[in-house]
Amino acid sequence: MSKTFDVIVIGAGPGGYIAAIRAAQLGFKVACIDAWQNAAGGPAPGGTCTNVGCIPSKALLQSSEFFDHAGHHFAEHGIGLSALSIDVAKMVGRKDAVVKQNNDGILYLLKKNKVSFFHGRGAFVGSSEAGYQISVSGSAAETLVGTHVILATGSSARALPGAAFDETRILSNDGALRLTGVPKTLGVIGSGVIGLEMGSVWRRLGAEVTILEALPGFLGAADEAVAKEALKAFSKQGLKFAFGVKVTDVQVGASGVTVAYTDAKGQAANLAVERLIVSIGRQPNTDGLNATAVGLALDERGAIVVDAECRTNLPQVWAVGDVVRGPMLAHKAEEEGVAVAERIAGQHGHVDFNLVPWVIYTAPEIAWVGQTEGQLKAAGRAYKAGSFPFLANGRARALGETTGFVKFIADAASDEILGVHIVGPQASELIAEACVAMAFKASAEDIARICHAHPSLSESTKEAALAVDKRSLNF
Ligand code: FAD
Ligand code: NAI
Repeated sequence: MSKTFDVIVIGAGPGGYIAAIRAAQLGFKVACIDAWQNAAGGPAPGGTCTNVGCIPSKALLQSSEFFDHAGHHFAEHGIGLSALSIDVAKMVGRKDAVVKQNNDGILYLLKKNKVSFFHGRGAFVGSSEAGYQISVSGSAAETLVGTHVILATGSSARALPGAAFDETRILSNDGALRLTGVPKTLGVIGSGVIGLEMGSVWRRLGAEVTILEALPGFLGAADEAVAKEALKAFSKQGLKFAFGVKVTDVQVGASGVTVAYTDAKGQAANLAVERLIVSIGRQPNTDGLNATAVGLALDERGAIVVDAECRTNLPQVWAVGDVVRGPMLAHKAEEEGVAVAERIAGQHGHVDFNLVPWVIYTAPEIAWVGQTEGQLKAAGRAYKAGSFPFLANGRARALGETTGFVKFIADAASDEILGVHIVGPQASELIAEACVAMAFKASAEDIARICHAHPSLSESTKEAALAVDKRSLNF
């Protein structure tokens, strides 16, 4: 006899496990199937985010930032070190322990919420009046039946044509997070989020890092002023960039990788490096779902086609997170997961895509929410903008982290905040205030009138809001 559930979730990344928990909270009988295995072959729920994404990358960013501070900034504080070294195996081991804490935490949460967890690969078998039949392959193969199905199968790194990932020389995010030593030279294809974060990790530890980007400019999705400031800071740190590049060939040799490309002027060039990270975007995971068995519609990229509320073309089948349209971000996946569970319960789950923040965890950090100046100009919307530099913030000076600024953009007539853009220390934390303000449709003046603690980086947020009205007090 098949086990039957109200809701079957396939995938236990941030989209899937959060959807499963919310559905269970709402009183449904829920199953969650996930295939990820840890080194011992056991379950490792949390998806890309927990295993080879958000969490391990932030662990290595933290370790490498400490190393960078010890090497370059401790002396300013009068702290001397006679010998500084990095034990990469230990650093990676710590990262693995952080990942395991998160895997275990998710297993605990699923259990606490009475979600039945199945370790294996889920695929459609068919559908009947009883619901959708989903096979679970793995150590305990079985077939489940669910009234509703939520697909949250995530995404995988996209390879360059003709240069498959071997995770030794040509690395995806997976290999880039478990190098056993610091390469002397590291090439990165793609100056997007992964390229910048992973390039920063290994640059701080001593690698000479060169990033080759196809587009003519840097960080096109960010506000132009932020992208300009960040590029200046990263270049000063020693990251080398080439834009407008077309990769023509990648050859793996005994001691490294050679990338042949044409530069922005069309001149042929070569980059020879010990290791190469390819971070040119990600592709949705739909191969193993047996979509044809039930006629699930996919688009030309292999992503599951959904409407604005995450409904697929099949009744009572939903899809969330990286496997559908929209930004590939963990918190976007989570919001969609919650909203879908609530819609299944007949509630009005809602995700405001304009309020999904972006964060890049480099140093300085980059974070933004809402519209850029470029987008507003293109839309012909009248706006006013104000910025405040961290150089003029007392806490930033005390921290020794004065690069960057906070920028507010508000509607010219109503003063409603339309976008907030930050490059600088703790931008990932500071952006939360902007998200809250925009969710409550605050004006720049609202933020300017709120008492912010002194000395704190958040005073820069208040000052940038004041700057919209040209009345910053400290600049
Ligand atoms: P995933 O996390 O990919 O989870 C999908 C799960 O489904 C996986 O466990 C997979 O094994 C499983 N699965 C797939 N097919 C099947 C099947 N047929 N049966 C059973 N299980 C299946 N986002 C941020 O917001 N902040 C960050 O700082 C951040 N850093 C990142 C750093 C890196 C290096 C990378 C690669 C990504 C990062 N992301 C970050 C993006 C984030 O990881 C993704 O947006 C997020 O994980 C998407 O969640 P998801 O639930 O849709 O899919
Ligand atoms: P990305 O989309 O951020 O950047 C890819 C870059 O590669 C782009 O600049 C693109 O122009 C360039 N590119 C594409 N094809 C190329 C080619 N053939 N040659 C040279 N350059 C090429 O993708 P990335 O960095 O792989 O990350 C994938 C996704 O993972 C991100 O978009 C983001 O959604 C998520 N992520 C989020 C993080 C965060 O929130 N902090 C951290 C890391 C990843």
